[in-house]
Parts: sequence; structure tokens; C-alpha cells
Amino acid sequence: MTAPLLSFEDYLRQPPEARMTHYVRKGRLYHVMLPQQFEEPLMEELFDTADLIKEITRKPNGSGFLKSVLRHKKAMLYFTQPSTRTFLSFLAACQLVGIDTAEVRDPSLSSEYKGESQEDGVRVFSSYFDCIVMRDPKPGFCEYMAYLLDATGRSVPILNGGSGKDQHPTQALLDLYTMHRSFFNRGGLRKKRYAFVGDLLRGRAVRSSVYLLSQFQDLEFHFVAPAAFQIAPDLEDHLKTLGISYQLSEDLESVLPEMDCVYMTRLQDEYDLSGESQLVDYSRYSLDLEKVQKMKQDSIILHPLPRRDEIHPEVDADPRAVYWRQLRNGMYLRAALLLHVFGAAHRLQEY
Ligand code: NCD
Repeated sequence: MTAPLLSFEDYLRQPPEARMTHYVRKGRLYHVMLPQQFEEPLMEELFDTADLIKEITRKPNGSGFLKSVLRHKKAMLYFTQPSTRTFLSFLAACQLVGIDTAEVRDPSLSSEYKGESQEDGVRVFSSYFDCIVMRDPKPGFCEYMAYLLDATGRSVPILNGGSGKDQHPTQALLDLYTMHRSFFNRGGLRKKRYAFVGDLLRGRAVRSSVYLLSQFQDLEFHFVAPAAFQIAPDLEDHLKTLGISYQLSEDLESVLPEMDCVYMTRLQDEYDLSGESQLVDYSRYSLDLEKVQKMKQDSIILHPLPRRDEIHPEVDADPRAVYWRQLRNGMYLRAALLLHVFGAAHRLQEY
């Protein structure tokens, strides 16, 4: 007799370490759900693969070769929460390595409109496609879908493209890839000071990047945010448990001169319950050229984008601004991840 399926709540009540064991097959990641799944050796492997993909695209016939690597695969991009960059960079990543794609972005145009559950919809996708990239506003929903699909015995890999306020693992990977490339000649990610600035409570990109960075214990975190939007207690507990040093602050200008990396974010007011965003002066958590001049010459500024007013466009031309590069890196990194999930990264050696 098979065990009864757990409810959504009971499934997520299991600690991440227990859930993560279901997301690995044949020694590789199968479902991509949490930043905690990426330890340093795997990150290094993905960064090297992304570098290689970038290099190959610049060579004669390189793009043609890359397109042949996964041309037998098909991906469903299921994005039921607004997205520009993540959606487009996954699409461009699929195109780079030859994966055919289809998309559902508006459930009102699918059978969900006729009352079909999302669970049944995802099961349909798994019959037609070899993987599903998924963004959904509900925290943990992608993980639960992966669990349900596994139980059907006809599972395909699910890649989490952002799950509510909860996690955004591929954004964290491309953030660290950008830091890794920027700090390549300066000893890498270690022994650096990182400031995360803005709405840290509800920004899933920050949350995932801090989880991913926290495996390097010799760095320093500064969380600069209005008191109402400081990092969540569980993230603080996580850092405390690991003995990682961090500071909380409301004053960006006093922190800036010391930092190696400043990670800016926008106000996540789509998660407001009762207009709480309007009670904060968010202009204090913004950068213009005058503030940037106070930063170290070799520091870097990141932003997951989209931005509003938190980085003035005049900063874009400053060499410390790497957010446009970060965005391009996302495409190469996601292509590297797809090659990993399908066990095809070694094929690049054929070029
Ligand atoms: C981020 C997200 O969706 O969480 N954007 C992205 O994926 N590039 C950040 C945001 O929306 O502020």
C-alpha cells in the first residue's frame, strides 16, 4: 500500500534538509527549489559551465553547436506571477542550448479558467514537456508541485523561478556568479563585506542570495532597511546558528564607504496588506552619483531589477554598477543549470 500524500502545509513543515533529499537524482540536481541545494563545488561547476557557454557563443559556429546540445528537449515556462527578466532569460537560456519552449503566463487563458486545479494543469505539462520552469505567488508552491509530480511516477524536473516572498534560487545563483566574476582577481567571494539594502523582509532575491552566500563563513553582512522591512527572523536565526557576523542598520550613507558589494532592491509593495509601504521614506535607501562617490573604487553595485528610484540612472555609467551585466549573466547561468539538470554539461567539451 502506498503512503497517503501529505498536505501542502505538512509537506512544507518538514525541514529543508529533509525535503532537499527528494530533489537529487543520479548524483545531480533534479528539481531546483532552494538555494541550500547549491554547495560550493556545484556552484563552481555551474560558474565554469556558464563561462564556457559565453565563450562558445562568441566562436564561429558556436551558437549552432550549443543549439544542438539539448535540441531533443522541451520546456514549459509556467509563470503565473508577473515577470520580465526571469521569464525572458530562461527563454533565452533554453534557446541558447536548443530547448523548445511553450508558455502559460495567464491562467485565465488555460483550463484553469474552466475550473481545473493548478495541480492538474502541472500534471498535464509533465506529460508533454521535459521540464517545467515555474513562478507562482504562493511560497512553497513549486516544491509542493514537485512532490505531487514525483508521487505520480511521471515526474519531470521543476525549476523554481520565484515562489512568492519565499525563494528565488536561480536569481541567487546569478547574483553570486556576478560577484564571483567581479571579485575573480581579488580572492573571490570570501573575506568581503556585503550590504543588502531596501525591502529585505519581502524581497525573495535577497533572501535566496543571503542563504547562498552564508555558506562562506568568513564574510560580513550589513542589512540596511527601514525597521518595518528588516530581514525576517528565520534568516537572522539562520545566520546566528552559523555564527556569521551581521549588522542591522537604517543608515545607508554610513555603511557605504566600507562595502565591497552593495545589493540594492525595490520596495515590494505588491505584498502590502494595508498600505504599510506608504509609511516608510524609501528615498533613504537609494543611490545617486554623489553617494556612489563615497564607495570604494573596486566595490560593486548589484540589483535584481526591476528598479524604480532606488538607483538613479546617472549611476549606470559608473564602473561599479554591474546590474546590467548581472542581468546578462542570468541567461548564461540558467543555460548552465539546464545543462546540469539534463546531465549534458560534459557535451561542451565536444566543441
Ligand atoms: C526580482 C523578483 O522577481 O523577485 N526580480 C527578478 O526576478 N529579476 C526582484 C523584484 O521583483 O524586485
